[in-house]
Amino acid sequence: MKFSLNHSIQSYPDLLIVPIAKQEASLRCLESIGKITNVPLEVLKTDFEATHKESQTLYFQENGTNKRIVLLGLGKQPGFKEIISAFRSFGYRRKSSLPASTGVSFIFGNVEENAALWVEAAVNGLELGNYEIGLYKTDTDEKATPATDLAVQVFVAQNEKEAAQIAIDRGIKIAATQMEIFDLVNAPSNKKTPQTLADWAMRSGKKHDYAVQVLNQKEIEELGLHGLLAVNRGSENPPTFIIMEYRPSSPAKKKIGLVGKGVTFDTGGLSIKPSANMHYMKSDMGGAAAVMGTLEMAAKLQLPFHIMGVVPATDNSVDAKSVKPGDVIGSYDGKTIEVIDTDAEGRLILADGLAYTVRHFNPDILIDLATLTGSCIRTLGTYAGGLFSNNDELANDLLASGQSTGERLWQLPIWEEYRNEMKSDVADIKNFSGAPSAGAITAAKFLEAFIQDHPVWAHMDIAGVAVSDSEFSSQKSATAFGVRLMTQYLQQLAEKKA
Ligand code: BES
Ligand code: ZN
Ligand code: ZN
Repeated sequence: MKFSLNHSIQSYPDLLIVPIAKQEASLRCLESIGKITNVPLEVLKTDFEATHKESQTLYFQENGTNKRIVLLGLGKQPGFKEIISAFRSFGYRRKSSLPASTGVSFIFGNVEENAALWVEAAVNGLELGNYEIGLYKTDTDEKATPATDLAVQVFVAQNEKEAAQIAIDRGIKIAATQMEIFDLVNAPSNKKTPQTLADWAMRSGKKHDYAVQVLNQKEIEELGLHGLLAVNRGSENPPTFIIMEYRPSSPAKKKIGLVGKGVTFDTGGLSIKPSANMHYMKSDMGGAAAVMGTLEMAAKLQLPFHIMGVVPATDNSVDAKSVKPGDVIGSYDGKTIEVIDTDAEGRLILADGLAYTVRHFNPDILIDLATLTGSCIRTLGTYAGGLFSNNDELANDLLASGQSTGERLWQLPIWEEYRNEMKSDVADIKNFSGAPSAGAITAAKFLEAFIQDHPVWAHMDIAGVAVSDSEFSSQKSATAFGVRLMTQYLQQLAEKKA
């Protein structure tokens, strides 16, 4: 899609989308649409209620040509997320039928403030609506032709144009990265090995000009990443340890370390998972994907931070060589770990990732993202990721970014009492308390033991949000959760006064 900006409508595009929230002020907007289309306001009001994702097509003629206006409902007090989803839903439903000349208007009094934000959401949503999940379908009839050749005119007030241009650019850029992340997370495990993640990072690094280093099995052994090696023991695919590094062209405001769980498939290992939902464990690298997407966005937007993204990648498989419950393993940090449950593998590889990042990079801020626990899903459902932090300022900044992007977080405590549950009789720490309670928190406490006492650390458990039910697929599919959240967080941080 190509987007262009205009502040007035000389001639109507074949289809003009007018997003409208459910509020008093929308009446004025409906009134002007009514005049253009010759529909009385009373009729418009009854037929279109502006509920979220509702759409109503109106037809009229301009100089003898047929034109359409589509009223797109946004619901009451729509946030950024609701505007995106309304446009994505519309774009998805109309993927094959949008005319080459399409427009989106924000100049009918349908936007009260911050038009740029609406523009970014609209552009992002329309682009995402084009996402095609059926990568492996051979029957092309089943695939809708994506609306890639569209020329979309965006209409905003003259004084909003500059901000809107930036918004269009951001909406396009983030959508492209999000769709890459969808593909990565949705990819099945037989098409996605630790090397696949490494290849993605190298390709992205080349394209967007940031450095990527990939450590192979031998280098991982030499370094002593014993957590990663233990999880990888049962796998036919060697592990990779991916280190992405983005440097801004001007002096960096801060150093930021990001670590993502890159489990390309989690069978549970010998503590094997039940079969019912095991197929979703192809998405157990959602944290890694979020980190990779964030690095790519930082490079695309030239954010003023020196950022290191670290991804320990492996699958967690069943084999004679697999690590066994009760085994004691080492770690990069030097601590010994008793592996009570081989399904608590994410924390083993993150332990190495976190310790490595602090020792080699010494960041000002340390953040990890991981599809870490079923417990987090039982706690928050699929409506928020779990947030754990030892630093209030960092936690509040992340919560605020979660709120404004709609990729919501909810903070849980990491009180010292929970740490006691991770004490091992035989080793320095165990990977599972054995109790069915507070599993997301005890997992966070385990990670905390490996951050080398870093004072500004946050962990996000995105198990419930990395994939979700939606109208875009019959099964749960990727959300790219974390990419928008982290991009927003970094942008806010860049503007923040020291
Ligand atoms: N990858 C899972 C967590 C998960 C579960 C993510 C469901 C997405 C959906 C993780 O490795 C895991 O299995 N965690 C265990 C830990 C337990 C054995 C201590 C869990 O949460 O059940
Ligand atoms: Zn697991
Ligand atoms: Zn896992």
